[in-house]
Order: sequence, then structure tokens, then C-alpha cells
Amino acid sequence: MIRYSKVLGTGGYLPAEIRTNAQISETVDTSDSWIFERTGIKNRHIAAPHESAASMAETAARQALEAANCDPSDIDLIIVATGTPEYVYPSTACLLQQRLGIKNAAAFDVQAACSGSIYALSIADQFIKSGGSKKALIIGTEICSRIVDWTDRGTCILFGDGAGAVLLGASDEAGVLSTHIHSDGEYENLLYCRNPQTTTAETQDDAGFINMRGNEVFKVAVNTLGRIVDETLEANNMAKEDIDWLVPHQANIRIIMATAKKLKMSMDQVVVTLENQGNTSSASVLLAFNEAVRDGRIKRGQVVLLEAFGAGFTWGSALIKY
Ligand code: ACO
Repeated sequence: MIRYSKVLGTGGYLPAEIRTNAQISETVDTSDSWIFERTGIKNRHIAAPHESAASMAETAARQALEAANCDPSDIDLIIVATGTPEYVYPSTACLLQQRLGIKNAAAFDVQAACSGSIYALSIADQFIKSGGSKKALIIGTEICSRIVDWTDRGTCILFGDGAGAVLLGASDEAGVLSTHIHSDGEYENLLYCRNPQTTTAETQDDAGFINMRGNEVFKVAVNTLGRIVDETLEANNMAKEDIDWLVPHQANIRIIMATAKKLKMSMDQVVVTLENQGNTSSASVLLAFNEAVRDGRIKRGQVVLLEAFGAGFTWGSALIKY
């Protein structure tokens, strides 16, 4: 019998503080209309000083566990995607494991920038399909606000904080249909954030902050996401019309619309959280998925395409029968 991984529950967390475009316009030369027209973003959430990637992950994880009526002790695998860990080590996954009181799971982080949660989902799916895990917790959690240069109008308008969670479990029924992950390290210079403590002396100047050549990233993202859509459909012998929902990484509304157009999907079938969350990097796809599951848009049995693109470059997709 084929063994699948299936979504058992989802969760999400957004910090209480909201930063508006108008507030950002007070400190850098920009405007609400410029930001909204170019990106689709109006607000983003900002973590409080006491919050961390692990604390936000805990809230999202507990929600997913509750939704699935699952006891934390049943979890045997924890994968956290984050580019903003509080510790170099232990991993954020181990910190989360401690917070949830889980004793015997394997726990580790993956770093694939904005594609991190798709990478984590793909890894967990392989574990479950091969019999190495029965219940896996996948989290994307980010405090982007702490690595954003708030004086750089090209990047500070884009990012926000939050955490998304998915609980996967082994099932005889089809759940995750396929995952596809890729990277191309050639693009380091278009989008990066150096660790100020471990970078070389020559590259200290811009360390600690997100650096991005936005326009060039934009072009590669649109082309690459178009290709991954084709790859995913082909692998499953499916047509565009077979997809009920697109849950894209929330980087820019124009990138999302280009992917929807490629799929000939109406924007009514696309989950967009960007307006009030901005780009929460590895958390964004899982936050959007959680929102649409909880408000009843995504229903059991429907086919959902998740996709993301980020620094590296990395990119990936997951086709899920929810
Ligand atoms: N307000 C006003 N003007 C601005 C702002 C701003 N916030 N930011 C840039 N500008 C100016 C530029 O200086 C430039 O001015 P110039 O023509 O006088 O030189 C002009 O606007 C056009 O700049 P572009 O960079 O070409 O603007 P673009 O339309 O590309 O929009 C944006 C910029 C929103 C960043 C867009 O390129 C984008 O969304 N890129 C993709 C981001 C992305 O997908 N990242 C990947 C995921 S993130 C991750 O992995 C961590």
C-alpha cells in the first residue's frame, strides 16, 4: 500500500503591533500609494522585543496541534524553516521542542530563505512516505523586522513578522501529491543577508541587513515560478483546471498575479495575505494556507498548489490534496 503524508492541522501567529505604510513614510522617502501600487502591501506585523522565532513558532504549532486534536508527545519530527533564528545553536526546532515538551522527536532547522517552508514540507513528506516519521510538525517562523534596514526604502517596505505551522501525518489516502524543490546559488548577490558575527572582514559593511536588487529579483521570480507550475502539473499528470487553490509566497502582488495568470486562475482562487502581512519570508505560505483553511475557503478534498521563491535563489512547490 502506498503511504502518503496528509495535512492534519494548521496554525498561525502574527504579532500584535501593526506598522502601516503611512508610518514607514514618516522615516523614509516613500508613500502609501507607491508601496501599495508596486507591492500590494498596506500593513505588516512587527514582533515585540520579548518575542523570538521560537516563541512565535510555539503559538502557531500549538494551534496546529489543537486543530488536529494531536498530543505533542505523538510528534516524532520537527522541522523549522527560519532565516532569523535567535540562536546560532541550538536550532529553533530544538527550542520549539523544549517549549512543547516533546522528548523523542528529531528536530532541526532548514535555511532556504522564503522557500524554507516548502523545503521543510518536502523533507517531512519524504520522511513520512519512507516510514521514518508518523507525525511531523513543520513551521516557518520569521522576525524579518530585525534584519531589515529601516533606512532602505527598497526593502523596509516589504517585510513583516509571523509564524505558520502545518502538522503532517501518515495516511493511506492521498494528501501531499508531490513536492519540487530547487536552488541556484549563482544569484547570491541579488538577495542576501550576511551574519555580522561570522562574515569576513571585507564584507562587514552591509552585514546584518537584507540587501536586495528588487527589480532583478522580480524578473527571475516571475519566470522561475512559471516553470515550477509546469513542472508540478506535469509530474502529476494534471491540467491547470484541476487546481482549486493557489497559495503563493507573499512577496509582491504583481508576482502573484503573474503566476495566477499562467495557471489561468481567477484571483478568487488565489489566497492573498500580503496586504496586511507583507512578506514574512518562510512563514508566508503556511500563514496563507492556515488563513484559508480556517476561514473555510480551502475544503477537504480540494487540490491546493503551494509555491515559493527566495534568496539563494531557492524555489519550490507542493501539490496537496487537502
Ligand atoms: N518608495 C518610492 N520609490 C522607491 C521605493 C519606495 N519604497 N523603492 C524604490 N523606489 C524607487 C527606486 O529608487 C527607483 O527610482 P529611480 O527610477 O529614480 O532609480 C524606482 O523607485 C524604481 O525602482 P525599482 O526597484 O525598479 O522598483 P520596482 O517596480 O521593481 O519595485 C520592489 C521594487 C517592490 C522591491 C520589487 O522589485 C519587488 O517586489 N521585487 C521582488 C522582491 C522579491 O520577490 N523578493 C524575493 C523574496 S524575499 C526573500 O527571499 C528574503
